[in-house]
Amino acid sequence: MQKILVVDDTELNRELLHEILKDEYIVEMAEDGTQALEMLRESREKVGALLLDLHMPGMDGFAMIAHMKEKGWLKKIPVLVISSENTAAVESRCLELGVSDFIHRPFESSVVRNRVRNTMELFASRNQLEQKVEVQTETLKRQYRIIQLQAEKLREAKPFNKLMTEYSSAIMELETRLKILNAEFSQEYNRNPFESIKSRLKTAASIYEKLERKGYPITVESIRENLTDVAGVRVICSFPDDIYRLAKLLTRQEDMILVSEKDYIKNPKPNGYRSLHLILDVPIFLSSEKKYIKAEVQFRTIAMDFWASLEHKLKYKKNVDDTDEIVGQLKACADSIEQLDYQMQEIRNRIDRSRM
Ligand code: GTP
Ligand code: MG
Repeated sequence: MQKILVVDDTELNRELLHEILKDEYIVEMAEDGTQALEMLRESREKVGALLLDLHMPGMDGFAMIAHMKEKGWLKKIPVLVISSENTAAVESRCLELGVSDFIHRPFESSVVRNRVRNTMELFASRNQLEQKVEVQTETLKRQYRIIQLQAEKLREAKPFNKLMTEYSSAIMELETRLKILNAEFSQEYNRNPFESIKSRLKTAASIYEKLERKGYPITVESIRENLTDVAGVRVICSFPDDIYRLAKLLTRQEDMILVSEKDYIKNPKPNGYRSLHLILDVPIFLSSEKKYIKAEVQFRTIAMDFWASLEHKLKYKKNVDDTDEIVGQLKACADSIEQLDYQMQEIRNRIDRSRM
């Protein structure tokens, strides 16, 4: 239940309002402005609305509103003024100060309840809207920063473009080596160890975004040193054992250096993600030198790839309904896919054996 603070010097009024509101809210009461401010200072976050009498000894309603305005509290807590005088002058003064609504004496219980409820709902949706705008502004600022950085990149375009060419060369080198292995393997076993290769070069914006997010310097050297996935190659295999066979054949090549390996097939991520990730130092041959360039190779089965593309959609989509349920369903699918992959592999083995 939300909390409502009633500030009125007349005990009878406080009791009446308490009676009207107590079924829907936790009603707290203060006798004057000083006492109410003390309560707000202590637990402002919990108060959903304030019902305020204007005429009180000591600190009166006007002084209290002025104080709340100064502290910025009127933006967080809606104030409904309880007034016995219907003068336009008083009302407009209150509205100017930032009061949300009025409750006129004598009270009509249903009117009080409705006014309080409507005001609180309106306030809540306005606050939500403000929060959304804040988040969007933050995103725009971030995008603006990235654009600025990209502009900076353009100024030093030559070294950046040279680096990108090197990453593209690493992708070409990897693709060629994998295709050669595929051709050789298919001669020998009459089938292909991989179905397809998808390659991608990280975009400039995404490179800058990642450097910035991880707190690395925004320089061409820093890209080379700190990012391992600018060049990305995804190899989609039919069966899990082909993944390991291909990965082994590739890393066994004498000038290919394995920098690191993450085996999410043997150790899937908690969400169910499975793939074998290798970070490689790939040799490329330029006109005047041989260079090693980092690249990320992801090996997956068709089923793992199917799963990962769907799961990826969930990650980048905001405000998906029933997210928890979808996460659970995805995990269950990942488990079924794992079983399926090995069952298919077993069937393939049986077919292969009977062919011999
Ligand atoms: P990044 O900073 O995103 O590159 O992650 P990382 O450095 O922790 O490396 P990791 O090996 O965990 O992930 C590298 C890449 O694998 C990601 O960029 C994705 O393409 C893919 N990946 C990793 N985890 C998931 C996942 O849970 N779901 C999906 N769909 N893809 C994933
Ligand atoms: Mg990555």
